[in-house]
Amino acid sequence: MRHFKLWDVQDVAVFLSITLYMCQLAGTISIHSPQRSLSRSVQEDVFFSVDVTCSGVPDIQWTFMSAAVSRTIGTWQPGVYANITTDYSSRVQLCNNGSMGLSNLRLQDSGYYVITVTDAAGSSKELGFVLKVNEVLYEDLQYLSVSALALACLAGLLMLSMWLLDKTYRTIAAWRRRKQVPEADATELQPL
Ligand SMILES: *[C@@H]1O[C@H](CO)[C@@H](O)[C@H](O)[C@H]1NC(C)=O
Ligand SMILES: *[C@@H]1O[C@H](CO)[C@@H](O)[C@H](O)[C@H]1NC(C)=O
Repeated sequence: MRHFKLWDVQDVAVFLSITLYMCQLAGTISIHSPQRSLSRSVQEDVFFSVDVTCSGVPDIQWTFMSAAVSRTIGTWQPGVYANITTDYSSRVQLCNNGSMGLSNLRLQDSGYYVITVTDAAGSSKELGFVLKVNEVLYEDLQYLSVSALALACLAGLLMLSMWLLDKTYRTIAAWRRRKQVPEADATELQPL
């Protein structure tokens, strides 16, 4: 019986250490992100926020993919080196936690953005983001100009009616004055 129990303990220990090892393997790289689907307008900025955890210094790569193209935006090791593709060099900002900011967006920036994290042992993990870049809608501008025109018309009407009111008031006042003067003369003359 004692023999069996000893074996049981050893089995459990082996099982535990294997489980721990597997967990460690699966958990060496983790990429967390609060939001993976983003929408922006042309000329705006976007920030792909991630938090990469990894044993050792990770190798991080951002790749852009759309129906037409697939290209590397940049590769870097936080605090070691950063290699940004020439087309993006003026628009990209890299953070130590793996995040990437892209400024002055264009319509062609719509697509998938994939971050690939590779650790020193060579294992890697990916996470994808979707970015939609919208045009500043023409209808919006049209709506704005129509509203501005309507407001201008309203202001014009108000000014016109105020001018008319003022003119009417003056006319009536002048007419009353003219009508009152002879009457006053008459009442003043009467007692004499
Ligand atoms: C990563 O770092 C940037 C800049 O330090 C920060 O703004 C962002 O919130 C971080 N992202 C996460 C998911 O922690
Ligand atoms: C940077 O990128 C260029 C072009 O992709 C490549 O030739 C070069 O070896 C890279 N440098 C580093 C340090 O990775």
